[in-house]
Amino acid sequence: MLRLPALWLGLGTLLCLPHSPAGRPSTQRLSKGVDWLTRYGYLPPPDPMQARLQTEEGLHDAVRMMQKFAGLQETGILDDRTLAMMDQPRCSLPDIIGTSELMRRRKRYAHSGSVWPVKELTWSVRSYPQASGLPRDHVRTLLFYALQAWANASALSFREAPGAGADILVQFSRSFHEDGYPFDGPGSTLAHAFFPGEHPISGDTHFDDEETWIYDPQATQQGGGTDLFAVAVHEFGHALGLAHSSTKGSIMMPYYQGPVGLPHLYRLPPDDALGIQTLYGRRQLHPGEDSPARPIPTQPRIPDLPPHRPTQQPRPPAPDRCQAHFDAIANIRGEVFFFKKKHFWRMQPARNLVSLEPAQTQRFWMGLPPDLGAIDAVYERSNDSKIIFFIGQHFWVFTDTRVDPGSPRPITDLGLPEGVTVEAAFVWGHNGKTYLFESSHYWRFDDRAGNVEPGYPRPVTLWKGVPAGLDDIISWNDGSTYFFKGTQYWRFLGGSVEAESGYPRSAPQDWMYCPGSPTASPAPGPRGGSREPGGGQCLCSGALPGPLPAFLTWALALAWALR
Ligand SMILES: *[C@@H]1O[C@H](CO)[C@@H](O)[C@H](O)[C@H]1NC(C)=O
Ligand SMILES: *[C@@H]1O[C@H](CO)[C@@H](O)[C@H](O)[C@H]1NC(C)=O
Ligand SMILES: [Zn+2]
Ligand SMILES: [Zn+2]
Repeated sequence: MLRLPALWLGLGTLLCLPHSPAGRPSTQRLSKGVDWLTRYGYLPPPDPMQARLQTEEGLHDAVRMMQKFAGLQETGILDDRTLAMMDQPRCSLPDIIGTSELMRRRKRYAHSGSVWPVKELTWSVRSYPQASGLPRDHVRTLLFYALQAWANASALSFREAPGAGADILVQFSRSFHEDGYPFDGPGSTLAHAFFPGEHPISGDTHFDDEETWIYDPQATQQGGGTDLFAVAVHEFGHALGLAHSSTKGSIMMPYYQGPVGLPHLYRLPPDDALGIQTLYGRRQLHPGEDSPARPIPTQPRIPDLPPHRPTQQPRPPAPDRCQAHFDAIANIRGEVFFFKKKHFWRMQPARNLVSLEPAQTQRFWMGLPPDLGAIDAVYERSNDSKIIFFIGQHFWVFTDTRVDPGSPRPITDLGLPEGVTVEAAFVWGHNGKTYLFESSHYWRFDDRAGNVEPGYPRPVTLWKGVPAGLDDIISWNDGSTYFFKGTQYWRFLGGSVEAESGYPRSAPQDWMYCPGSPTASPAPGPRGGSREPGGGQCLCSGALPGPLPAFLTWALALAWALR
């Protein structure tokens, strides 16, 4: 039944800070910073057993380390330059691998800790870029020279071996691509590779096919596209066992640094050459050879390729989760999905957000209209677990993440009057009935019959304590029903039709990991956590309505998980 693809990488780290005194970064900067630092290994994932809190000091140290790695001034503060660096396109592998690594991090090249037992490796391309239009031969040629750069500096050699059995399988993929590390569309993460090992995926190298991959070695600035050769040299470094380096000029720096010149003339920077030699040794000169250069297999000559620069599609701006004002909220298979504009956040049954950063709705729910602006309401149908999206005067039916043929249909097919839009929809856990809301009225709907019940609409005021014009409503697995509007939410216990006292409360604070958001209620509820009046200390473990996750899919631990 549950076949939603695993989504995204890091867990949000719960940040514990007093109310923002002067000089503190805003909540938005803070959560962006914390999410980034967690994703790339500078902050530990939240400890599922202890609900470990991130201290201000810990954050300082992490920021400082990130700044050091990136060659920025080490202030320990999430300043503009630091946040701008976090916006740079980069490799999606973490910079810091494991906490012990964190302690003995050197300036020089770093090893992942795994290495191929043989010196002759095979490679093969499984899929090519779709969108960027870089011709296949050019892709193969660029990859060939990217591997050659490593071969020339070490005792390694590479042979192209078509088929799925090669050591290094290269693919261009979008979004979810069956390894649990989905790509994120244009910009941000560009590619990743798996360290050497026994697992079939070891050595495999994936490029985000929503980047605009180009070949334009003369270009000095980035812009207009991402240089495939430069990124391939970097990723193959991982596939051979090198981790990220903080050395200026190293190809193993995590950030994309633009084109690196003509592929057939490219030489590895000294730091990277040294790094690969310590893993695989230097090239051995054969008797009679007067140059270390090995004859290389015939390949089309790179310099004849014309520069290739298609235009880039812009990435839709991501909304801020701490502003709440969601378009739709739904309980789907026990997880809560918060939709806003073209994005959504996903909360697992243990009430942890899968990521603080939103995912793009159309990449997940394939078949929504391409000009999607906002979704009005979403719910999981009670009779067959299909997922219903309401947008304007129409509804779409999904089986898991695929749209059913015949969608969309007009809302009037459900027995609703002409001109109605469904702004909130939920199945009440108390009686299993479906309720559809529009501003100040609601209908009870029979999922089996596919029609509204007689005697409706009725006024929203029958649900005591909530205003009209709700954003959306969910029944949650604690048996309660939650009504959302703007930045507030109300809880209805069990079958009660009256909001619990102490509500409304702040939705960003209680659902969206936004410490310091305005609290809607003066009296913190039992789940709301409490703050010392002095602001020096806070008990943020209660800031989330429930315990922290009991799972450890902190995906970027891929180096260990797949070894
Ligand atoms: C390998 O490196 C040597 C210099 O160390 C250079 O002369 C030779 O052209 C390089 N060969 C390739 C294929 O990069
Ligand atoms: C569930 O109900 C809808 C009408 O709301 C109907 O079209 C659909 O076929 C039903 N599914 C099952 C499995 O009964
Ligand atoms: Zn990398
Ligand atoms: Zn991948």
